[in-house]
This record gives sequence, C-alpha cells and structure tokens, in this order.
Amino acid sequence: EVIKNRKADQQILTRVDHKGRVRYIEVTMFPIWGEKGEISKFIEISRDITDKKKKEEQIRQRLERMVEERTRELRQTHEKLLHQDKMASLGKLAASVVHEINNPVAGMLNFILLMKRILEEKDFDTRTADQFLQYLGLMEAETRRVSRIASNLLAFSRESKLELKHVDMNRLVERTLLLNANLLKINRVRLKKLQDPDLPEIMASEDQLQQVLMNLISNAAEAMESTDGGTLTVETRHLKKDKAIMVSFSDTGPGIPQKNISKLFEPFFTTKKKGKGVGLGLSVAYGIVEEHGGTIKVESSPGGGATFRVVLPIIDAKQGGAHGQS
Ligand SMILES: Nc1ncnc2c1ncn2[C@@H]1O[C@H](COP(=O)(O)OP(=O)(O)O)[C@@H](O)[C@H]1O
Ligand SMILES: [Mg+2]
Repeated sequence: EVIKNRKADQQILTRVDHKGRVRYIEVTMFPIWGEKGEISKFIEISRDITDKKKKEEQIRQRLERMVEERTRELRQTHEKLLHQDKMASLGKLAASVVHEINNPVAGMLNFILLMKRILEEKDFDTRTADQFLQYLGLMEAETRRVSRIASNLLAFSRESKLELKHVDMNRLVERTLLLNANLLKINRVRLKKLQDPDLPEIMASEDQLQQVLMNLISNAAEAMESTDGGTLTVETRHLKKDKAIMVSFSDTGPGIPQKNISKLFEPFFTTKKKGKGVGLGLSVAYGIVEEHGGTIKVESSPGGGATFRVVLPIIDAKQGGAHGQS
C-alpha cells in the first residue's frame, strides 16, 4: 500500500500470542524518501491496541444497554400515558354524566317540592291544576332527558346486546321523526321526505338504529335553532350495487367548520353550551353503525348546512354478517 500510494499507511492486524489469545496490532508504516524521490526505507511502528479495542467494545456495549434501557423507559412512559389518557376520558365521562344528570334531577326535585307545598296548603283549584299540569310536563321532559343520557351511555358502554331483527328503515325513520316532532316544531324545522318506496328490509338492532336516527335528527334540529328554522331533508335509498341501504339527513343549518370535521365523532366533542350537549351523540352513532358493518359520513360546508349519510348493509338473517357481540 505504501509503495503503491506513495504515502504512509495504517492497518490493524490480528496476531495470536503464545497463550493463543487474539491480539490487535495497529501497524503504521512511513516511507523514507531517497534523493531521487524513490522510497529508500520504511519506518514501521507497531502498537498493541487490544486493550484499547476491549475498552471501546465495552463502551459500545454500555451505550447499547443505555439505548435499550432508554427505549424501554420510553415505551413504559408511552403505555402509562395511554392508560392515563383512557383514565382521563373516563374521568371526563363521569364528570359529564354527573353534570348532565344533576341538572334535570334538580329540576324535577324543585317541581316536586313546589307541588307538595301547594298541596299542603290545600289551595287547590283549577288554576292550581293547570299549574300542576305544567310542572308535570316539565318533570316529564327532564325525566326523558335523564333516560336519554342513560340510554346514550348504555349504547356507549356497549353493554347492550345487539339483537338483530328485520328492520324497515322507512318505518323507523317515520317513527323517530314522530318521537322528535316536538323538538322539530320548537326549532321551526320543515320536513322534506324523499323515501325510496322499494327499500328492502335490513337485519339490524332496531333500538340502536333508532338511537342513531335520534342523534342525527336532534343534531340537525339543534343546528337549525341558530338559523331560526330551516329544512330537514330525510332521504332513504336502496344501493343495489352495494347490497346496502342509505339513509341521510341534510339540514340547512350553519354547517360545520372544516377544523371540526375530524373531531366530530370523538366522544365528548361538543361545541354546544355546557349542559346542552355531552358530545356523545355522534360517537355513539358511529359505534352503532360500525357494529352493524356500515358507515357514517358527513359532508358540510360552512353556511351550506350539513349532511350525515348512513350506509348499512342488507344482511341475510341466515348469513348473520353483522359482527355484534353475543
Ligand atoms: N347537523 C349539524 N350541523 C352542525 N354541526 C353539527 C351537526 N351535527 C353535529 N354537529 C357538531 O358536532 C358536535 C358533536 O355532536 P354530538 O356528538 O351529537 O354531541 P352534542 O350534540 O352533544 O354536542 C356538535 O356539538 C356540533 O358542533
Ligand atoms: Mg348531539
């Protein structure tokens, strides 16, 4: 090498010593130049670097161990954070539930106490009867709110069993609209129905699908509260090619800002005032639709209203395709 390259060279060679151990020798060779520029002699310096190499190897191993250790620590921290995240969600859930349930229960309690006092005063006439009717109406509404929260959470905790039966979506839509008639009227919502008359039945849990429709209808109605009324278009369609049915709800509300679209189906995501929304409606709907092997999608442009489209597969009862828990 020294002759070829005409400059000093260094190499590490291995030798076996008299005890049979491998030693590493660093050999450096310097050329000594003659008068005519030729190499006349060499100087060779040999250095036993076995110990140095051993030390380097030890350092390398120590570094590797440190990296491994650190990786393990990071993984543990990550797992702990994930766990904490779950616990935080649970804590948030508990806090929302307590808040949501406390309000209607306190309302009910007030009306009960009021009615008791009036009865005790024996001051009972037709005007009082009218008042009681009003109070009972408010208590009824609050009781419904409590049970709505409870059923939302039941579906959320997925402890309710998926009982599949033949469901006529057109009929279910009608029924759910009727159940929400009051809410739609309060928010001055006009209805436009575009139902496919030849919609096939699907195999599904009617109760759970009703929950999905309820949540979408109440969201649409609540969205149009701010625009002081509007039109809710409900459409059903047989998607023959996909062996599925579609049900969609389009409103003429304010729409959804792009930055919220990705968070919409997350539990607890709400833009509504405290006490108004728990942010569970869409996440519950998402969970239920997914459990039925379907999809739920949203389309919206600010100012242009929102459309929620649910697609559900038509499943033969014998095939039992929906992957519910048993
Ligand atoms: N039709 C709609 N138009 C505009 N925004 C909507 C609509 N539906 C849902 N959203 C938005 O999605 C959020 C989450 O909805 P949801 O999960 O039902 O919870 P909640 O109704 O309790 O707020 C709402 O707070 C609202 O910001
Ligand atoms: Mg909602």
